[in-house]
Amino acid sequence: MLSLSSKKSNKILNKNEPRFGGAFLCLYFKTMKKVAIFTSGGDAPGMNACIRALVRTGIYHNVKVMGIMNGYDGMINGQIVELDSAQVGNIIQRGGTILKSSRSEEFRTYEGRKKAFEVLKKNEIEGIVCIGGNGTYTGAGIFYEEFGIPSIGVPGTIDNDLYGTDQTIGYDTALNTAMEAIDKIRDTADSHNRVFLVEVMGRDSGFIGLAVGIAGGAESILIPEDHKDLERLYSLFSKKDGRQKAFSIIVVAEGEEGGVLKVASQLKERFPQLDIRSTILGHIQRGGSPSARDRILATRLGVSALERLIEGGKNECVGLINNNIHFTSFKEAISKRKPLPKYILGMTDKLSV
Ligand code: F6P
Repeated sequence: MLSLSSKKSNKILNKNEPRFGGAFLCLYFKTMKKVAIFTSGGDAPGMNACIRALVRTGIYHNVKVMGIMNGYDGMINGQIVELDSAQVGNIIQRGGTILKSSRSEEFRTYEGRKKAFEVLKKNEIEGIVCIGGNGTYTGAGIFYEEFGIPSIGVPGTIDNDLYGTDQTIGYDTALNTAMEAIDKIRDTADSHNRVFLVEVMGRDSGFIGLAVGIAGGAESILIPEDHKDLERLYSLFSKKDGRQKAFSIIVVAEGEEGGVLKVASQLKERFPQLDIRSTILGHIQRGGSPSARDRILATRLGVSALERLIEGGKNECVGLINNNIHFTSFKEAISKRKPLPKYILGMTDKLSV
């Protein structure tokens, strides 16, 4: 069993980021000359804005920033390109990731990680910044323990399920995408007096489900963290004294109760009179131009991550807590669960009367 540790966890930085100018860094720190950045796991809108911020912050501090293509797979296979300021121009508004992404099986093995280390050594890369979710952080933490390559993580996932930051890059855009889709579904649900079950992403976590349920005016929200929600849904349709609604929107988190189709068939069995339809929003939630909020978050985290790395940070991830930059060790970020805003569940009960 590998243990991950960091002596620098949990430091709240002051609000005056970026903390040091380039001149200061050069004078007082032996700064790195060459670092590499990559995106890994599910892509998220705003990753490109973060790549832009990392590259340009590197250039500002006279550090060469290399891009690793295709996540950990590209690190293993030596897919490394040099990034300059022009290459990251005109990408702040683009969804996806210009560096591509993967969920690497090979990096889960020691042999794969050793190959990756040899590639970094050959390319004289002194530190890495990874943008991704839980799996990405886990990989970076183990890699640091085994090979000592300093790494800083940046939270990039639409799921928002990362400890150590109030919000992850891509979450806000995904929420808006899902909300707009629900608004459209609402039109047709209303015209046909139907019950619509809408499945949103987040197989292990209900952040998207909860927030979009509120923003989209859902009658009920089914998420992995709340196992009473199916009963709550049934009681909604059994109510004799409640307002008779012509149509309903129910938000179901991916994978919850076996997915939206299973929930729909169970509901139909119980209430055969209902005219039920199901929609799976799926990967449209991962695409599209990032919202202003995601671009700003991605930029802020990118600048802070690069500066932390070149001033000696390692084995930790950057986040924003109460609008302050905050660093958390990978170990803590991986092992702790960010609490859901559960008060929202109580709110839907009140709002669906
Ligand atoms: O990136 C997070 C996420 O979109 C989850 O919400 C979803 O469960 C998963 O990725 C889907 O992954 P994939 O695109 O590999 O099927």
